[in-house]
Amino acid sequence: MNIAIINGPNLNLLGTREPEIYGKVSFEDFLEELKQRFPDIVLSYFQSNEEGRLISKIQEFRISGCEGIVINAAAYSHTSIALADVLKAVGIPAVEVHISNIFGRERFRHHSYLSPVCKGVIAGLGLEGYALAVQYLSDGNKRPLP
Ligand code: DQA
Repeated sequence: MNIAIINGPNLNLLGTREPEIYGKVSFEDFLEELKQRFPDIVLSYFQSNEEGRLISKIQEFRISGCEGIVINAAAYSHTSIALADVLKAVGIPAVEVHISNIFGRERFRHHSYLSPVCKGVIAGLGLEGYALAVQYLSDGNKRPLP
């Protein structure tokens, strides 16, 4: 199974960016761990600070056979109708992840344009949220909702 992880702006700074909120581990290091934890899944990773590049990448997933998307659009979650539109357009099951608990932070972080077009949202569980999302897409997504 092919699952893509998409990170938005400033998440290339994980490990050094506000470590009290986002932790001290770089995403590259965490990704290595993730690949070891899910040896049967082909995990691809894309990070960009630019909205248009994120949109183009998600459009490409339709032809590249991607079967699940884990997306942390970072600040674009709170602003980007275009990212919500492209997730809806490609129709690939997606899970929205936030490292921090966006609901316990400033009010402008409480709303995400992506949440309604994603299967679900994981927020506040640190980098482990990405692992839980991968787990869901590879397994839980096959189970019918109760
Ligand atoms: C974030 C939360 C966003 O509000 C913020 O703009 C980010 C990271 C998170 O992972 O907690 O850049 O998406």
